[in-house]
Amino acid sequence: MGMNKKLGILLSGRGSNFLAIADSIAEERLSGAEIAVVVSNLADAPGIAAARERSFAAAVIESRGRKRAEHDAEIVATLQHHEVDLVCLAGYMRLLSPEFVRAFPQRILNIHPSLLPAFPGLHAQRQAIEYGVSYSGCTVHFVDEELDHGVIIVQRTVPVLPGDDERTLSARILEQEHLAYPEAIARVLSGNYEVKGRRYIAR
Ligand code: GAR
Repeated sequence: MGMNKKLGILLSGRGSNFLAIADSIAEERLSGAEIAVVVSNLADAPGIAAARERSFAAAVIESRGRKRAEHDAEIVATLQHHEVDLVCLAGYMRLLSPEFVRAFPQRILNIHPSLLPAFPGLHAQRQAIEYGVSYSGCTVHFVDEELDHGVIIVQRTVPVLPGDDERTLSARILEQEHLAYPEAIARVLSGNYEVKGRRYIAR
């Protein structure tokens, strides 16, 4: 256990990506990693209840009514206290301050439910339906100081089918998210890659 890299998970909601990561570690599909702490900015996020149920260290750090920099500093302190190596945003619906990003250089991942750079921001699946694309998917990327912008590590695609609505497309994409996130974590933890400009290059 002591050799494992420590993951810090940040979430705001349901937590299915967190649980997919937890399951892939428990079932040894993702090795050399452990979840050190789960942080939510919302007290009533189902994901934080799931973390407690599974006996993970869990912290609610409320964002409401606080300055971003101050809120982020508390999260960074919590992650550092738990000696986190890699921060995984898993449905964490807040922008990170530059100070937060700089505290974990190339050590913060995010998952987004579209094929970036298409459809950044909120309601990516709805954006894809309304735009009329035939394919969408998900992207795991490094977090930089711009929204949904950092270097892409893994993408997985799904078709957009006639008759899809936001709900059916979201469900199809989510299945792929649950595969993409553990794969991206394994890639980053392996260290077998380099980043050239915008490109992630496996070695
Ligand atoms: C996921 O679909 C994730 O890609 C998306 O929120 C959902 C969280 O689900 N993230 C974003 O839209 C980030 N902008 P989960 O709580 O079940 O993992």
